[in-house]
Parts: sequence; C-alpha cells; structure tokens
Amino acid sequence: MRHTEGQRFPMTQHLWSGRFDAAPDPAAVDFGLSFRFDRRLFEDDVTGSLAWAAALADAGILSADDAAAITGGLQDILEQGRREPSWVDGPDEDVHSFVDRQLVARIGDAGRRLHTGRSRNEQVSVDLRLYLRRRIPPLQAHLREVIAALVAQAGAAGDALMPSYTHLRRAMPVLVSHYLLSHAAALRRDHDRLEQARQEADALPLGSGAIAGTGYPVDTTRLAERLGCSRVVPNSMDASSDRDFAATFLYATSLAMVHLSRIAEDFILFTSEEFGFFELADASATGSSMMPQKKNPDPLELVRGKAGRASGHRTGLLVTMKGLPTGYNKDMQEDKEPVFDAEDTLAVSAVATAAVLRKLTLHPARTGRAASGLLLATDVADYLVSRGMPFRQAHEVVGAMVRQLLIDGRDIEALSVAEWQQFHPLFADDVKQRVTAAASVRARRTPQSTHPDAVAAHRAALEQWLTACA
Ligand code: ARG
Repeated sequence: MRHTEGQRFPMTQHLWSGRFDAAPDPAAVDFGLSFRFDRRLFEDDVTGSLAWAAALADAGILSADDAAAITGGLQDILEQGRREPSWVDGPDEDVHSFVDRQLVARIGDAGRRLHTGRSRNEQVSVDLRLYLRRRIPPLQAHLREVIAALVAQAGAAGDALMPSYTHLRRAMPVLVSHYLLSHAAALRRDHDRLEQARQEADALPLGSGAIAGTGYPVDTTRLAERLGCSRVVPNSMDASSDRDFAATFLYATSLAMVHLSRIAEDFILFTSEEFGFFELADASATGSSMMPQKKNPDPLELVRGKAGRASGHRTGLLVTMKGLPTGYNKDMQEDKEPVFDAEDTLAVSAVATAAVLRKLTLHPARTGRAASGLLLATDVADYLVSRGMPFRQAHEVVGAMVRQLLIDGRDIEALSVAEWQQFHPLFADDVKQRVTAAASVRARRTPQSTHPDAVAAHRAALEQWLTACA
C-alpha cells in the first residue's frame, strides 16, 4: 500500500523517501545516523551550500528570487547555529539533511531547489575538506606553542651540558639546548606536514554529482574561487571515492602525537629520581593516594598514552577504505569520528605538553656531572688522531684505557698528565683542557652539531620562524 503524503515517515521526511513504500526500520535508521558527530560540519555544510546556490544562480538554474531566498535562509540558519550550538540537533540522518530541513521549513519550495544537480556524496566531501582547511591552522598554532616552550627552555639552559644517549647509554656530551631543540625540529616537520594535509584537502569536489558529474552547466572554477579552493578535482569518480585527504591528516596528526609522546617519555625519565636532570613543577604533577613521597608525571604519561589512539585512527581509516569498490560507500561515513578525535587529541596533548615544558626546571649541576667522565672517550681518541695516530689504533688505545679506568673505579678527568702518559706517550700537557665536556661540544664543527654557535643559530632560526608565523 502506498503511503499518502501526510502518513509518510511520521518522525522524519528522509531525503530519499520518494522511492520507498515502507517506513524504514527504526533500528536501521538509528544505526545509519551520523548527525550526532557530523554536526561538527554544520558551518562548512552551510558554507558549501551558499556557494552551490550562487553557482546554480550563475548557471541560470535558480531564479534570482529563489537564489536570494536560499541565501537569506542559509545565512539565518548559520547565524542561529552559531548563536545556539545546541539547536543544531534533531532526528535528522546527518548534518546535510538537517540544513536542508531547516531551509525548507524557512523558505518552502525555493529551499527544495537547492539540491539541484548536487549529491550528498560530494557534499560530505566538500564539508570535510572545508572543515580541515579551517581547523588545521589552530592545530598548527598549538604545535607552535610547544615549539616556543622548547625554544624558551633552550634559551634559559645557556651553556649547560648533558649527556646524549644512544641505546639509552651515555654517548657524547651535548648542550642541553641542543637536546631541547631536537624536539623542536621534529615538531617543525609536523607543522609542515599539517600544511600539506591542508593543501591536499583544498580541492573542490562539487560538480562531481553522485559519481558521474553534474548535468547542469555549473562553472566549477568560479565555484572553487568562491570557496577559496586552489583547484577542482580532476575526476568525479575519484572525488566520490576519495578520502586520502582525511588519511593524510590522520598521518600528520598521528606522527605529531608520536613526537609529543617521545618528548613525554624523555621527560618522564629525565625528571625521575634516577636521572634528576629536570624538575617537574608541582603544577604539572600529581600525587599518590597512598605514597606521600610521590610526584607523578601524569600529564606526560597521558600524552604518551593518547599517541596510541591517534595511530589507531589512522590505521582504522586505511582499513575501512582498503576494500571499497569505486564510488561512495556508506562505510566512508566512518571517516569523520577518527578525524575529529585525532584533532581533539592532538590539540589537548599539545596544550598539556607546552604547559609542562614551560614550567620545567633544569638542574645543570646534575646534567653537567652526567656529561663528564667516560663519555669523553671519543674525544680522547680524537685527541690522539690530532697527534697523528690512525683512528682505528686510537680507538683501541682508548678502549684499553676505559677498561682499566673501570677496573680502578676512576674517571678520565681525574687523571694527572703523568697518568695519561702511562696510557700513551702521545698525550701531552694540553690533554686536560682538551678532553672536557665543554671542549667536546666546541669541537663539533657542522651546522647541525651541538657546537654552541650552531645551536644558537638553530634557536635564532626557530625564533624568527615563530615570529613570522605569529
Ligand atoms: N552521512 C553520510 C556520510 O557521512 C553523508 C553522505 C551520504 N550519502 C549517501 N549516499 N548516503 O558519509
């Protein structure tokens, strides 16, 4: 039996009701709803629709009156949604249906003309693209906060020294500032990578129709300009199938989370009783309900923990996409929650990391002490090389020396010149000045090294970049 007009779907008039005889099973409807989460695309949906209405009017598909009514209606909807975010809600399937329903409720038949030549398949794509385009810059600003905190700490660290580690064993002395800026360098790449994700999202899919292209003479170049897109997609089938831009965003965010997690891990270690290189501010730590002495680095641990879910989102979307036949598939609705959660996760993690970093206190005496001793062995070998000994031989001489010092429980810097010379006659009076942690960093020569001038130049470059971004 055919439903008569008033009887059809008492709850919601679905966008596709015309073809169906029976009201959909409520369980199936509920399962398919995405409005709960895609309401975050509200602004972008209205922005896309405003531009589409203008394009239809340009093409002579909409009368000037209808176009004006649609534009006015959409602007009202946008204003109301901004004023009252909780209004963006209802039994609608998704945000597109919500805006459509509100428009028809406001302006009647003219509202029903807006969807001419357009499909939700391209609408959801353009919405998510516009969303990423506007939401990536605030994420980049959060990353810059972390970079700024590292740069400030690097400035405050002055010429303090610390050991660097490979295999988590003491390797060579470095400036504390060099170490801090190493993390800034990684985050700077994340900033670029987010920019690339933004560029990738910046292509206009409208004009693709449901899959084959639209049958109306819409000027897509002009439409792209209207929306500030840098280009139009080259293929409508690809456009309706494509979520690469979301995957690229998830890669950029998950890698940024990996970097924040490694910063977190370093400072969990470096603020521990065992290292004691830095002191965590009381404000950045939590206590224990049982053990009164505890000062736990919870915010850092949570950043490290959250990196897992960010990586999961990236993997999740790739797996969702991998088996899909060409064209839009409902599976692709699963793209939004990971994108939103990855965005939120990176934002809160960057804010927390920056707050912890800003309040860290360096213990230069402890880092300096840890930077002296046997980790100067490479400098001792270099000293012998400067006296003409081949490096392989020098390595062996110093290896034997280290073995002996370990047996005797002594340190390189405690040796008298006479004792040095017992290890090899090439050691001369200047060895005591030349084999120190401070001399070691000064002996590094390349622009990316821990030489104080090189580090100062890196810090200045980052400072300049931060100022230019602001
Ligand atoms: N809610 C849908 C999504 O997020 C919008 C596109 C629906 N298109 C369709 N043909 N069912 O993917």
